[in-house]
Amino acid sequence: MSAYPTRPLIAPSLLAADFARLGEEVTAIERAGADWLHLDVMDGHFVPNITFGPMLVKALRKHSAMPFDAHLMIAPADPYIAAFAEAGADHISVHPEAGPHLHRTLQLIRSLGKKAGVVLNPATPIESVAHVLDITDLIMVMTVNPGFGGQAFISSQLPKIAALRQMIDATGRDIVLQVDGGITEKTAPAVLEAGATCLIAGTAVYGAPDYAAAIAALRPNRPHAAELTAGGG
Ligand code: DX5
Ligand code: ZN
Repeated sequence: MSAYPTRPLIAPSLLAADFARLGEEVTAIERAGADWLHLDVMDGHFVPNITFGPMLVKALRKHSAMPFDAHLMIAPADPYIAAFAEAGADHISVHPEAGPHLHRTLQLIRSLGKKAGVVLNPATPIESVAHVLDITDLIMVMTVNPGFGGQAFISSQLPKIAALRQMIDATGRDIVLQVDGGITEKTAPAVLEAGATCLIAGTAVYGAPDYAAAIAALRPNRPHAAELTAGGG
């Protein structure tokens, strides 16, 4: 098992924000200490829900300096990637099931100067990303079935996170390992222990009364158990 990263990245998901006040919600979460803004794009076809597209990403771009982490739950994805890049997405992540040519899609994202990500559904094996690691900047493990916020964390994904940690470490490349779905103060420690370096959280952050406290609660700012013992308490 990997040690906890010193400071995991926290990427609140706008899906759980107040959609009538999105600009303010983005500003508020940045002030509260968020590292990235996670943007869930859904088409009502790849997943059974519809959210928003590049126009909203563009409108929000002027409200924040945070990296915009776009999670595309759309099929096909390729025809819309340039639009998301132009709108101001810094990271563009796709599901392998969304198109027949994952390698080409990642090449396309990188050719636009953006970081390219691969998202693995709960049933998607880690092998789907094994042969494209050289052009992958982020890997996102879904710990819920994509489509909705507020679902329960699927703990069978923990060994998968650990296996991906090993796969990434073997490359020697600095690939961000994200986990998305059901992240709370309770589930975050196991996810970090398994080797994740970025936590995506919707309900746990935007559903909380105090965004800064909710973000801080996801970070392991408590000393590690081993350090506690060594330090004598
Ligand atoms: C689900 C989305 C998630 C969602 C997470 O399809 O990809 O990003 O917003 O929401 P919570 O944190 O509430 O599970
Ligand atoms: Zn997401």
